Amino acid sequence: MADEQHGGVSAAEWWKQAVVYQIYPRSFKDANGDGLGDIPGVTKQMGYLEALGVDAIWLSPFYPSNLADGGYDVIDYRNVDPRLGMLEDFDEMVRAAHASGIKVIVDIVPNHTSDCHVMFQEALAAGPGSPERDRYIFRPGRGEAGELPPNDWQSSFGGPAWERVADGEWYLHLFAKEQPDLNWKNPEVHEEFKKTLRFWSDRGVDGFRVDVAHALVKDLESRPLDEFPADAVSAPLDTSGSNPLWDRPEVHQIYREWREVFNEYEPPRFAVGEAWVHPDHQYLYASPEELGQVFNFEFAKANWCAADFHRAIEEGLASAERSGSTTTWVMSNHDVVRHASRYGLPQVAARAHHQIATDWVLRDGASYIEDRAVGERRARAAILMELALPGSVYIYQGEELGLFEVADIPWDRLEDPQAVNTSGARQIKGRDGCRVPLPWCAGDLPEPASWNANFGDGATGTFGFADRTEGAPAPAAPHLPQPLWFEDFAVDREEADPASMLALYRGALQLRARELTATGDTGLTWLEDITPEAQADKVVAFGRPAASGGTILCVTNFGETAVPVPEGEVLLSSIPLENGVLPRDATVWVRA
Ligand code: NOJ
Repeated sequence: MADEQHGGVSAAEWWKQAVVYQIYPRSFKDANGDGLGDIPGVTKQMGYLEALGVDAIWLSPFYPSNLADGGYDVIDYRNVDPRLGMLEDFDEMVRAAHASGIKVIVDIVPNHTSDCHVMFQEALAAGPGSPERDRYIFRPGRGEAGELPPNDWQSSFGGPAWERVADGEWYLHLFAKEQPDLNWKNPEVHEEFKKTLRFWSDRGVDGFRVDVAHALVKDLESRPLDEFPADAVSAPLDTSGSNPLWDRPEVHQIYREWREVFNEYEPPRFAVGEAWVHPDHQYLYASPEELGQVFNFEFAKANWCAADFHRAIEEGLASAERSGSTTTWVMSNHDVVRHASRYGLPQVAARAHHQIATDWVLRDGASYIEDRAVGERRARAAILMELALPGSVYIYQGEELGLFEVADIPWDRLEDPQAVNTSGARQIKGRDGCRVPLPWCAGDLPEPASWNANFGDGATGTFGFADRTEGAPAPAAPHLPQPLWFEDFAVDREEADPASMLALYRGALQLRARELTATGDTGLTWLEDITPEAQADKVVAFGRPAASGGTILCVTNFGETAVPVPEGEVLLSSIPLENGVLPRDATVWVRA
């Protein structure tokens, strides 16, 4: 296929400034009314995604799984979980996406499989020393009878990182015990994943999101296992390459191999790595010889203050320049507290903020009062700032509705292994609060107790609460309970309200595509002088070339005091503006 140009962007580089919408499939749209979102549900809502104006969707794992970790425990990488549909449904979904001009990205989980994956079952059956066992990381235990784990590493979800099997050996799992780590020193593992990349590429998938991309290669040989630091799993990462488990230099060879596979296709398949490495190492994963792009999580970590966002933007752009790629901007995903809630919590010194948000969820949302008006106002300002930046923007399902974290899901309804593994102690509620199924239709609410915001269609396939009350079987309750306040955020309500978060997202996405992305220009100019000196450190302001001429200025005011709106035509603002000033917690786009 010729490398067509769309505006200033070549077809092969569609991803460089794309807006990607993350779908957590089990909580997006339930088309068959069984309480679980599914692939036909995605197809059904393609019109919604097109109207939103996204360039691509990324689907978190939809593969067969025992759901020990929300689908990140994959039993079969080349299939669809039967509860979510069939391969034919997937093909139909890809067709519908492409017909709507939307690319499809799937999640690849190469660090670990499910313990029910056929390779792990073969490894268990074949026994110690077998080639089958060598595809995973098995080691003998310590102690007289090998009754102690090989060392004291703790898994990311709590509890030991080693699990003992019936014949006495132990296997490594950096995450849940149902997620044994693969041995990437074994060539068969390489072949297995290349097969998977080709399988989905052949089915028309445009790209891949690579789960814990920095974890695959481990150094378990350079010294006896019990001489490695006991905190290797949780230790902060530097750039020395000395951690035995994360960000090993050898991991890059894998992505060079994968690049060859991506380049077998026209246009080459895209990839973005999830690599929680030191910011100075991100560019390695994003190199065009490797994955091409890597998540930059600095926005997700930033406190609501100008200095944090300014630094995050500078670091992101510098890293992109170093890799020769573009960066990514992420405020929310399925692993972090929703940003509308984070911004409505007390704001303290940078970095510690992240801890407050986590703490709040862990303690049932009771330890602080979330100020929703403030959270919403800041979330509106934040998305306009984010969408004005060069690079890719990743939107997590529901943020376009302004959803807040559901911090009070009852303990016995939680699914996340972080909660399940600690439920005895009841310390960590985990990540389910951002994974509650989306509210599509508020409808009539005759009986609040049974209300489920129409996440699922009735078994008759009808859509809308009214149909159900007329005798259609009621859909099963969503797999995670939706709180009653979700009614105010239902898609049909927001579609009818020109001041809704959804309306803001739609308007900003359209304008971004038309005026910013279309130029193909990824430059940004900081505007140092547009605010009075006393407020300069409370403002983030930059300019980008506009497709229709001139410059688009984006100004966000994080301070208490209003700042002047720059001269020019106001194209969009996060809240209505009066008297030519930009109040606190607001963003404006001005054409100058
Ligand atoms: C990162 C994923 O985003 C997270 O949800 C998952 O628990 C871990 N990787 C393990 O696969």
